[in-house]
Amino acid sequence: MNQRLECLYSMIVSQIGVIDVGTDHGYLPICLAERGYKGELFASDINAGPLDTAVRNARVAGVEKRIHFLLCDGLSLCPPEQVDAVVIAGMGGDTICSILDAAAWTMSDRVQLVLQPMTKAEVLRSWLVSNGYVIERESLVSDSATLYQALSARYLNRYTPLSDAECFVGSPWLAENLSLYRQMICLQRRRIETRLHGMEASAREDDAGPIRWYQSILEQLRVIEEETQ
Ligand SMILES: C[S@@+](CC[C@H](N)C(=O)[O-])C[C@H]1O[C@@H](n2cnc3c(N)ncnc32)[C@H](O)[C@@H]1O
Repeated sequence: MNQRLECLYSMIVSQIGVIDVGTDHGYLPICLAERGYKGELFASDINAGPLDTAVRNARVAGVEKRIHFLLCDGLSLCPPEQVDAVVIAGMGGDTICSILDAAAWTMSDRVQLVLQPMTKAEVLRSWLVSNGYVIERESLVSDSATLYQALSARYLNRYTPLSDAECFVGSPWLAENLSLYRQMICLQRRRIETRLHGMEASAREDDAGPIRWYQSILEQLRVIEEETQ
């Protein structure tokens, strides 16, 4: 497995069962089976092609019978009582929110969420905290010259506010590796500056609000960076 998947693997805390939503190649559940995980294993994908690949890879690894393969949208065919960890990785933050929104049973303190948004991490964090989930762990992993964000969250029916900037980069209190955390701040700052320059260049009246919002996030990021020196 690559560094990104190893990072997700290391974050899973589960005894009952794990589902990997949007499994694609199936590497994560295959690895859990190979390394002796004893609970139930589920791998779901909305597309038949990737799920077939996962089945083939599991067969080659000799663990096909350990994994339940589900062809479905998100968690729609997942039996809640057999799962206490949900992994959703390699998708946009907004897609992850829709998958969770459609599975109310994940709103339980017995269910750990391990999430790795490829884009729109700020949408995901903001959705989680406004819906009573608490982000318990934040990990950053550098893999093949790309920096990935992964987080572990759980529904505790509690509101733990995050600033707008923290929604982009995670809370500095949870940062496990300050060097990677500062790299993530730089990365998000560059992305925001690019959006900001585009908006300033087009000079549309409607953009005045978003421009002020992005400017305030840049300022918040500057403060976080200073405080984590
Ligand atoms: C980029 S791959 C990520 C694979 C793997 N999770 C990883 O992190 O390496 C995204 C996978 O998610 C699947 N997918 C996208 N939307 C989905 C949904 N709503 N429910 C289940 N699977 C979905 C796609 O078919 C694809 O196989």
